[in-house]
Amino acid sequence: MEKNYFPCKVSDVLGESRKDEIAPKLVQEIAQKMEDIPERFLLKNDKISPAIDPPSNLWNDTLLIDFSLLSSQSLSSSSAQDELSKLHYALSHWGCFQVINHGMTSSFLDELLNVSKQFFALPLEEKLKCSITEDDYFNGYGNSSLISGDTKSLNWNDRLFLKLYPQDFRQIKLWPENPNNFREILGEYSLGMKRMLKVILQAMAHSLKIEEDSFLNLHNEERGVIGIRFGMYPRCPCPDRVYGVHPHSDGSTITILLQDNDVPDEALHILKDDKWYKVPNIPGALFVNAGDFAEIMSNGIFKSVVHRVVPNSKTERVSVASFCVPDFEGEVEPINELISPNKPQLYNKILIQTYIKLFFETYPLGKQVLDTLKI
Ligand code: OGA
Ligand code: NI
Repeated sequence: MEKNYFPCKVSDVLGESRKDEIAPKLVQEIAQKMEDIPERFLLKNDKISPAIDPPSNLWNDTLLIDFSLLSSQSLSSSSAQDELSKLHYALSHWGCFQVINHGMTSSFLDELLNVSKQFFALPLEEKLKCSITEDDYFNGYGNSSLISGDTKSLNWNDRLFLKLYPQDFRQIKLWPENPNNFREILGEYSLGMKRMLKVILQAMAHSLKIEEDSFLNLHNEERGVIGIRFGMYPRCPCPDRVYGVHPHSDGSTITILLQDNDVPDEALHILKDDKWYKVPNIPGALFVNAGDFAEIMSNGIFKSVVHRVVPNSKTERVSVASFCVPDFEGEVEPINELISPNKPQLYNKILIQTYIKLFFETYPLGKQVLDTLKI
């Protein structure tokens, strides 16, 4: 029988036998007690290929986007038009960009990083108060590595996943009460994410010269989904043989990522033309990447960038990723205006729920859902 993946039951994702393993297998716990890394985290035959720094002038000239220009009322001004061209270039060549002047201060972002670190530093029993329950894999504290499956090594991270929007998806009882300003800060950050999402989706449409709400329609106020993932990557003694997160593309339209300023070595890598590039960590900036739904809707113009996370032997790292996903009851398909005899439709229409199901089927095999949707 077809499973209903809404909301995602833990047993749907991990299987009955594995759901009990979540708490004892938290990576932070393993890392604390560890002498040797458990075999299941180690890459079997190879080492992680090295990543290179992108030329800094290239990054700054083409991938740094000034958000205030995208959100300006006068998108016809030449500076706004230049920024839209940059956005188009960034998303169609790299599948990502970094935003500055987004309206959230560096001190506020630091506060969010601080409460995230404080949460992960709590004793285990305190964190377990926020544990995922059988009802919904995408709400609560736990470990996502189990879905790496049997064919790949496990991911070296724990996570606190919380649905922020629609508001009625919020499970406030799983939002940490400790540190005591966590909920308030997350509430404010949620508003920032919603505001940024709207501006970016409209700018993406403008950059393609299509109707302004083409992407926004499925991310409307009532039904659009934003889920946030606080990731904790403990120190890892052999970072060249263990993935923080295996290479993947995101099941989102866009993902907005806040990186840890205290980690000097860039931990996040993106793939372009078969080369891995380190994502520079620019304090106060947010990293935005296109996900699979942006690639489908743009009929392949925007690239859902493949990315990976590597751990660090000296410092632990936190990250805060906001996944912006269309209405869970909806379906995505290439936008009509982007299909023509010269540009035939590249992807089949897909229900978001079917996508989620395929994601959990393909991820353990190291495959991408997008490949299964190509026409
Ligand atoms: C993810 C992801 C990046 C990071 O959660 O999908 O790519 O830096 N995270 O944690
Ligand atoms: Ni990702």
